[in-house]
Amino acid sequence: MARSASFSARSRPFLRASRTDGFEIITAPTTHPAARVAGLAIRLRAEIMAGLAVVAGWLLLTTWMPWGAALALVAVVIAVLAAVPALRRCVSRRAMATMTRHRLRQVLVERRCLNFSRAAPLFLWSHPTEVGETVWLLLRAGISPSEVEGEVEWIASGCFARDARVTPTRRMTALVKVDVIRRDPLACELIASELDDWTATTGEAPPRGTGSFRRRRPTGTGRALGTEPVRRSPLRARRSTSTTTSRWSSTTPSGRRRTGPRCRTVAGTGRTMSEPTRLRALLRDWVTAVRTPAVCNEAPAPSVLSIWDPIHLGVDEYGRAVRVTLAYRNALLAGEPGAGKSVGLNCIVGHAALATDCGLWLFDGKLVELGLWRTCAERFVGPDLDDAIDALGALQGEMDRRYELLDTERRRKITPDDAVHGIEPVVVVLDEVAYYSATVGTKTQREAFSVGVRDLVARGRAAGIIVVAATQRPSSDIIPTSLRDLFGYRWAFRCTTDSSSDIVLGAGWATRGHTAADIAPEDKGVGLLLAEGGEPRRIKSAYLSDEQVYALADHATGLRARDAA
Ligand SMILES: Nc1ncnc2c1ncn2[C@@H]1O[C@H](COP(=O)(O)OP(=O)(O)OP(=O)(O)O)[C@@H](O)[C@H]1O
Ligand SMILES: [Mg+2]
Repeated sequence: MARSASFSARSRPFLRASRTDGFEIITAPTTHPAARVAGLAIRLRAEIMAGLAVVAGWLLLTTWMPWGAALALVAVVIAVLAAVPALRRCVSRRAMATMTRHRLRQVLVERRCLNFSRAAPLFLWSHPTEVGETVWLLLRAGISPSEVEGEVEWIASGCFARDARVTPTRRMTALVKVDVIRRDPLACELIASELDDWTATTGEAPPRGTGSFRRRRPTGTGRALGTEPVRRSPLRARRSTSTTTSRWSSTTPSGRRRTGPRCRTVAGTGRTMSEPTRLRALLRDWVTAVRTPAVCNEAPAPSVLSIWDPIHLGVDEYGRAVRVTLAYRNALLAGEPGAGKSVGLNCIVGHAALATDCGLWLFDGKLVELGLWRTCAERFVGPDLDDAIDALGALQGEMDRRYELLDTERRRKITPDDAVHGIEPVVVVLDEVAYYSATVGTKTQREAFSVGVRDLVARGRAAGIIVVAATQRPSSDIIPTSLRDLFGYRWAFRCTTDSSSDIVLGAGWATRGHTAADIAPEDKGVGLLLAEGGEPRRIKSAYLSDEQVYALADHATGLRARDAA
């Protein structure tokens, strides 16, 4: 039965709302004028601070020098700000960030994205990004992130931008990041590869590049194969279990024992932590997210490249470098012909070739795609199915040998420390998998190939065998579904249909708005990258020209020959 407006008003008089069919009027007590002025001052804090700085500066100058000289100095400062591009950009980007904060507030108020007390979200901070501006909102009680998310279209147009994205933070849903996108970094014709910096070096830091390289040693926690097992002392074991007590406690200066709330298991991480630690982690996460909003990974150390280092693949929609660590993982690249799979593979093969702490096995059904890297490969397999099956057999043998060794050492996986005993990761790259698994040879041969690849993908990770496969459409006749689902990284380049995209990324992503079918045909190299457990990210792969590939391959061959000598 439909409720009448009078019934609603009677039953909930505190709302003081009168409802009619088309609209709803909500009244709220008028805010105190002092609170209004304070709110205005907080909203205009950037402008007020800038104004105060100008006035204070002017007053200081006029006490030190004559009026005319002060005016001349101010004119010079303004001219420098306008003339030096870096300064001009810095000032204008800050001004845009402030303007975006005001516009966003205006949009949310106009769109009635308010709670029942007519309060808008709190606008914490805005800052410029590579592609526009980011505004951080703290939602008041009564406003949900999905309400803000529903307004992206109005946010984009209200902020004079090309797009807007709303992302609630994982640990605190009330903290929402609104990205206002003005530039599309994926529209750029060519993305430079970081590998190019390594061609002119021989195991030294790259001479140029992003300048953001930070030293990072391989973080192997295990020990090398062939060394004595390190047993954990029972005391250490006891200590480590005792840290999982459910109450935190401490002693105050007066000697009184203080106990705190029970520990909580933090959603998404599975870690148990006390309330203060959880709050500290929350704050730290927020500060980290604000400072480096990238999900992007650390850049490799400025020494020789290592396969344990993150591999640079390209840039994402926010203009941030995208790097993935391939150790203990496998990757599948797929997309329509000419979408950019082989160019994406070159980024991985180039890194693996320069990283002299891994073996490189290349399979190329087309011969010419990976053929450029042939000189630095331990084994190169062309369009020859028998040779491919033989190579897979050899890799399976090596994998079994490593597992036997690990078993005798009572360990689970190889680590960077095993390099001293000559046990290094092996990167197995297969381009045009369909050629071997569905095109040539007899059914038995094709099955033998598929079984071999499946075995490497399923069991090879801990033994340091990394499989990277590329194909046009990984339907079940080319890559069995059971095998496809084992790939930790999926990179879907342009596909013709949503179902093709779902075949690469996994069922259901297209209905959730992540489909490689909406990539324009002219967007070569653009694809959706799905890393374990995350959401697909739209990225564009870095591009290496043939000349760069030749230079890198020659350089890597030299490095590997030097290491072997
Ligand atoms: N990241 C990129 N940046 C610029 N151009 C690119 C990029 N990726 C691909 N291209 C362009 O698209 C062309 C085709 O790319 P690529 O050979 O990698 O496609 P493919 O998916 O491997 O095709 P096929 O399935 O036929 O092997 C390249 O020669 C290049 O001109
Ligand atoms: Mg190709």
